[in-house]
Amino acid sequence: MIEQHHIVKAAENLRQNKLVAFPTETVYGLGGNALSDAAVASIYETKGRPTFNPLIVHVPSQAEAEKYVVFNDVAKKLAAKFWPGPLTLVLPRRADCPLSLLVSAGLDTVAIRVPAHPLAQSLLKACGLPIAAPSANKSGHVSPTLAAHVREEFGDSVMILDGGACDVGIESTVVDVSENTPVVLRPGSVMMEDWVHASAGMTIKSPGMLERHYAPNKKLRLNATDIKPGEALLAFGTPLQGAIIVENLSAKKDLKEAAANLFKMLRALDASNATSIAAMPIPEEGLGIAINDRLRRAAA
Ligand code: TXA
Ligand code: MG
Repeated sequence: MIEQHHIVKAAENLRQNKLVAFPTETVYGLGGNALSDAAVASIYETKGRPTFNPLIVHVPSQAEAEKYVVFNDVAKKLAAKFWPGPLTLVLPRRADCPLSLLVSAGLDTVAIRVPAHPLAQSLLKACGLPIAAPSANKSGHVSPTLAAHVREEFGDSVMILDGGACDVGIESTVVDVSENTPVVLRPGSVMMEDWVHASAGMTIKSPGMLERHYAPNKKLRLNATDIKPGEALLAFGTPLQGAIIVENLSAKKDLKEAAANLFKMLRALDASNATSIAAMPIPEEGLGIAINDRLRRAAA
């Protein structure tokens, strides 16, 4: 049985940017503080996600969601009808949105939902933070619907709130409403007949097949070993000399730190008056694979 002191402890962990696995009505989520780049990077690392698929942000109410994303009329209707519940809405980030850019994997939108599960609600209220949470399984594994499944995935490395079996058992429906017409990116238990389903060739793509991502306006040169005149530098380790502006992903070559910094540093260099951006090589291992994947897409 989960007692109040478990919730208090879990909330404390989240505030310290540690991860907590918790039940929702769909599947167990691997939760982290959605305001913190470090916490979100550690979700990707713990899951072993090969790419930065954007994550769903969980909030206790629509009022809370309105702090982070812009609601149009369609979104308001859907929220009124299905929240709290297993429906995720993809909506534009507010200009002043404090959520980690890594949560959106560099997109201008956020996938957000209000879970109905009482434990998820208690946790959200106790910590007072938006919680980013993908399903609590290693990348490529099946989503967990029991606390025991989560333990099989992560052992005792992550605190787990055991709420028994999840009701829904499949992940929430993901609907992009950022353009008013709802487009289903991931089917789930909540469906409406007039929703359009995402298909290849549509401008809005399902994130599983999503190739859209943050790409800088400036030209990005990968695996740089020298600096050309006028270039900005995205460094890793000891910076190359000669760049007009430098952002260092991680001076101590920590891939987790680099992942947490990636999107915001690319943006900063893109906004500089450099002519183009040179990126130093990142090792193709662990989170480095995801970082390189994003850098390659950004350079394409
Ligand atoms: O039921 C669920 O949704 C569970 C529980 C824990 O809430 N969470 C979950 O999260 O399934 P995850 O990360 O496994 O799936 C998130 C889905 C992915 O398909 C992702 O690509 C999509 O939502 N997504 C997230 N942010 C997006 C965005 N900004 N635009 C489009 N799709 C997005
Ligand atoms: Mg998943």
